[in-house]
Amino acid sequence: MTSDHWQAIKAIPKVSLNQMFEEDGDRVASLGLEHAGLYFDFSKTHLDESVVRAFQKLADDLGLSAKTEALLSGEPVNISEGRAAEHCAERGTGNPASVENAAALHQRMKSLIEVIDAGVLGEFTQIIHLGIGGSALGPKMLHQALKLGDEKYELAVVSNIDGAALEPVLERFDANKTLLVIASKTFTTAETLLNAQSVLDWMSEQGVADPLGQVIALTADPDQAVEWGVDETRILPFSETVGGRYSLWSSIGFSVALALGYDVFEDLLAGAAAMDQHFQDAPWNQNIPVLAAFADQYYTQVRGCETRAVFAYDERLGLVPDYLQQLEMESNGKSVTLDGEPLVLHSSPIVWGGIGTDAQHAVFQLLHQGTHLVPVEFLAVIEPGDSLSPAHHNGLLLNCFAQGAALMAGKKSDDSDRNYTGDRPSVTILLEELEARSLGALLAFYEHRTFVNAVLLNINPFDQFGVELGKQMANKLAAEDGNQLDASTEQLKKRAFGA
Ligand code: F6P
Repeated sequence: MTSDHWQAIKAIPKVSLNQMFEEDGDRVASLGLEHAGLYFDFSKTHLDESVVRAFQKLADDLGLSAKTEALLSGEPVNISEGRAAEHCAERGTGNPASVENAAALHQRMKSLIEVIDAGVLGEFTQIIHLGIGGSALGPKMLHQALKLGDEKYELAVVSNIDGAALEPVLERFDANKTLLVIASKTFTTAETLLNAQSVLDWMSEQGVADPLGQVIALTADPDQAVEWGVDETRILPFSETVGGRYSLWSSIGFSVALALGYDVFEDLLAGAAAMDQHFQDAPWNQNIPVLAAFADQYYTQVRGCETRAVFAYDERLGLVPDYLQQLEMESNGKSVTLDGEPLVLHSSPIVWGGIGTDAQHAVFQLLHQGTHLVPVEFLAVIEPGDSLSPAHHNGLLLNCFAQGAALMAGKKSDDSDRNYTGDRPSVTILLEELEARSLGALLAFYEHRTFVNAVLLNINPFDQFGVELGKQMANKLAAEDGNQLDASTEQLKKRAFGA
């Protein structure tokens, strides 16, 4: 019975972090794990041997090994949609036919990049990448993290249906030099298709003779893209079994591979493959994604934490919290188990965050003294991303480490306003260098951690029916019968559009 395991986990005496450090001189060595250019410090969490052992029993009971094997061998783990979740096949682990197919599609992507680089399709220097959710967050985050600033192509990623997102790009870009990349797994997403039509209209207005000749489509539904008007030679397909929020490894990564170079994309895949290997092989008590998920579940279910905060102490990684919000909340924000029963545990914590040191002067007050206990994750890079005085990067890293230390240690004061309770957990993830390999490994770590959390919750992390109702309502509201919605919504519609 999994409930017995949860009871056992909840019954473990709650020892403070300070006491754990006092009692175990090896804590940093045993909870500091290194792999693929990344160092993970779990020592400032409440994980200890007894907690890890209890979670191992729970994971065993829930079939974590068999479920991992099923995921990594391409079995249909996404049971509500009756299909596999094959993002790992994109980096070489999975059902051999899927791995071969992914490699062939990558090859096709590489060839198209060579053709574009050679100027065969036109003299392009600017790329507009349109997509939303998983079709935008990954490429945008990767580009911000890895661009050096001297690239041949300028890339703009636009997602929102709000014209204020697209218009400034159109004002800045030259239509004749712009390649339009439409990224949509389904090729039916309203925001993306409206933005795409507006870019085509702009190209026509600017005198481009054949706007569709400047379009590349990235999709799992090529027929839909052809029907929309894209020439099939300029469609880069990917497998239906690659979920949107797991898709940056597929042809959804095309714009980044074009803008930064295909070798960068290959390094990204190699870094992810190194983490896949670790996830597959390492025993659970030394398995980085598994330990991270144990800590997540400990804080959510045992300590009642409803959120987790992620702070990137590096401007280049500033979009990682946004990316993780979709990955974790769209995957694990569920309320039924794999057996269709109501989920009695709390599902995904709310993931939020920002950039250090900015956030220290804005939201850290609550983290240090608020009544919510918020597990914090710090992301930092040892090699600086700037060439200014080392004082900048040193100050950045020292501030990062100081926050974790202060959250944990606290400080007693007789003045209650100036008292810090401490015992507030954090994980620090240090990248030796920010390059495609280490970033690939980091993102694969997050994917596997999300998966292990789903196994511990006994839910399906690979569907997202929750977003459908809002889409249906938007369509209904746009149609004539939209006036038959609730009185409040009708009133809002009247105010905005008239009767
Ligand atoms: O609305 C949610 C969602 O389906 C995400 O899961 C997905 O990443 C995004 O929309 C975009 O979908 P598509 O790639 O099909 O345009």
